[in-house]
Amino acid sequence: MAQILVTGGAGYLGSVATSMVLDAGHHVRVLDDLSTGHLDALDERAEFLEGSLDDPRALDEAVRDVDAVIHFAGKSLVAESVTHPDLYHRTNVDGTRQLLEAMNSHGVTRCVFSSSAATYGEPEHLPLREDSPTRPTSPYGQTKLLVDQMLAEAASRGLSAISLRYFNVAGALETSRGWLGERHHPETHLIPNVLSAEVDQPLTLFGTDWDTPDGTCVRDYVHVVDLIDAHLRALDALENSRHLVINLGSGRGYSNREVITSAEAVLGRPVPVIETTRRPGDPAVLVASIDRAREVLGWTPQRDLTRMISDAYAARLTREF
Ligand SMILES: NC(=O)c1ccc[n+]([C@@H]2O[C@H](COP(=O)([O-])OP(=O)(O)OC[C@H]3O[C@@H](n4cnc5c(N)ncnc54)[C@H](O)[C@@H]3O)[C@@H](O)[C@H]2O)c1
Repeated sequence: MAQILVTGGAGYLGSVATSMVLDAGHHVRVLDDLSTGHLDALDERAEFLEGSLDDPRALDEAVRDVDAVIHFAGKSLVAESVTHPDLYHRTNVDGTRQLLEAMNSHGVTRCVFSSSAATYGEPEHLPLREDSPTRPTSPYGQTKLLVDQMLAEAASRGLSAISLRYFNVAGALETSRGWLGERHHPETHLIPNVLSAEVDQPLTLFGTDWDTPDGTCVRDYVHVVDLIDAHLRALDALENSRHLVINLGSGRGYSNREVITSAEAVLGRPVPVIETTRRPGDPAVLVASIDRAREVLGWTPQRDLTRMISDAYAARLTREF
């Protein structure tokens, strides 16, 4: 049994991680400033510290006596990062630097970090591998890449770290207290937006003339429970003075139209859609190579797109939005 600090544990991924890490028999302490998180998503078995990555006293208390940190806390809206790049650098980069300093002063040497496919930018070759070029096209992606580089540098001074580069995460976890699902405001992710589309608030489909089989963008989706399972495996795979980057996706792409069609099957009704022009900066196809996750973590995602959509829908039905 270990003591794990989960930063951002009141958020979508952090709340699922908190419950699953507790279920695996560990103690969990959560540090979250509730800026985008939800207190009611927090597992009551966890110890909760309300505080920010930019508060040295909160960090000092948070890292005390912990064996490892799973670091989810951060800002993650691509469009907001374009309008407020300083906020993204302060929270994601400076905040992580301060977290690492606090860990260092308490002798905490193990860290699993939420990185992103946004570090790669427009792909040259598909599927994207961990050694593919990194040319992020947004300040958000730049901040994630800077943290990956910071962790690599800290590993040369003794840190054990894994950057998990998520592709598109979806789905929800059912717990004895109800479903833990996605509740971002604003919601920019396709699956929750497909599920919430109404006749008077249709889904906007950006671009139907891409060079893809059905003309819509193709993305790689992974179920949140599979994703967090990979974090538990990553904790076990941490090695002294080593930093690894590992992609987490399903290794296959689904077009936006395929997502809509699958959602219509789950909902039992058509999804109202408005087709519009391409969104600047969107690559046509993003698909992960997950060979390294298979090899290093012994991980293979178990849940398919229909399961992601039906679990996200079940979570949606039980929550007020
Ligand atoms: N959801 C995805 O599909 C996805 C994909 C790639 C990467 N990520 C990364 O995973 C992480 C979690 O994503 P999410 O979807 O759960 O986001 P989220 O917004 O639901 O959760 C982030 C949590 O961090 C907290 N937080 C933010 N700034 C903080 C600060 N300065 N101090 C303390 N707590 C702070 C928020 O209150 C929130 O609870 C983020 O770092 C995100 O960039 C997510």
